[in-house]
Amino acid sequence: MDIKEIEYTKYLLPKDYEEALPPYFFDFQGEIIEEVVMLKKILNKFSSISRVMELGVGTGRVTEILYEQFSDVSGIDISSNMIESVRKKLPNVKLENIDINKFVNDKSNFNDIDILCSFWAYNYAILNHYEEFDFQNKSIKPTSNFDKSNLNSEKMINETFLNLKLKSDFLIIFFDSTSVEQQFVTKYWSKIQPFPKNDRSYTYKRFLEVLNALEGKEQIQVDHETIKGFVYFDDFDKMIKTYLNLHFKGFFNGDVDLVKSIILDLKITMDKYKMIDGSYKIPAGVNIFLGKRI
Ligand SMILES: C[S@@+](CC[C@H](N)C(=O)[O-])C[C@H]1O[C@@H](n2cnc3c(N)ncnc32)[C@H](O)[C@@H]1O
Repeated sequence: MDIKEIEYTKYLLPKDYEEALPPYFFDFQGEIIEEVVMLKKILNKFSSISRVMELGVGTGRVTEILYEQFSDVSGIDISSNMIESVRKKLPNVKLENIDINKFVNDKSNFNDIDILCSFWAYNYAILNHYEEFDFQNKSIKPTSNFDKSNLNSEKMINETFLNLKLKSDFLIIFFDSTSVEQQFVTKYWSKIQPFPKNDRSYTYKRFLEVLNALEGKEQIQVDHETIKGFVYFDDFDKMIKTYLNLHFKGFFNGDVDLVKSIILDLKITMDKYKMIDGSYKIPAGVNIFLGKRI
């Protein structure tokens, strides 16, 4: 494992991710449906003989759906732990432990791709350009050269879409940092790990900006939709588990009082989303980018 992989993946173990991930429901085409059902609906529009590449497979949650639907599925992830867990589950999926940034830099990687997709992962590859490694403290710190970071992120996004063969499709699911669910996370993380321009939406805005420019030059065609919905928790305990073990994994550094104060804040903040049966529906959202290289 290189230093970058260690820093970016040390808190994200496949088992923890699977256990802590709650179900998401979105308002899609007039229906409130679970995220995976929505993804299946979107993917149904593509031919089953397509060759699909997924960037950032994670535990293979969506890779499994791709595998059911398409004849040829490949995937990459920066975390070797994640790659190993998917390899066990889906031995026929071609997997590689590589950074998205490196992958898109090599045009030959795109020879066999008909559909390029990424679910809740591409944002990290953009964010990488706004971070630097502090080798002394073994930590990640904000970029010291913002203009260079902007140029490099633009280069990476351009490579992703311009290296696609003509007429290939893409589907990028990008997180919505403006939702109630995510704003609670941002409020705390931004204190110890500043986001570009102190704006957690910055990577999304950058992505949109570069995609719009590509569309303006008629190099891609893209439909973009932000849809809203909610994340569901059976009870407050389940919500605590998700926030502590997923969103705030690696945040506390053994500070028990901080854990207690965040749990209290979570209770107060989310109380208005509590249902009569004790479950919670916390407003969440997602950005869908569905397009084609032209
Ligand atoms: C939030 S998880 C999403 C996983 C999966 N797509 C899903 O929807 O369940 C993000 C994944 O992106 C991977 N990742 C983060 N930065 C990456 C990068 N620069 N290159 C490749 N993978 C990366 C992480 O290791 C993690 O597995």
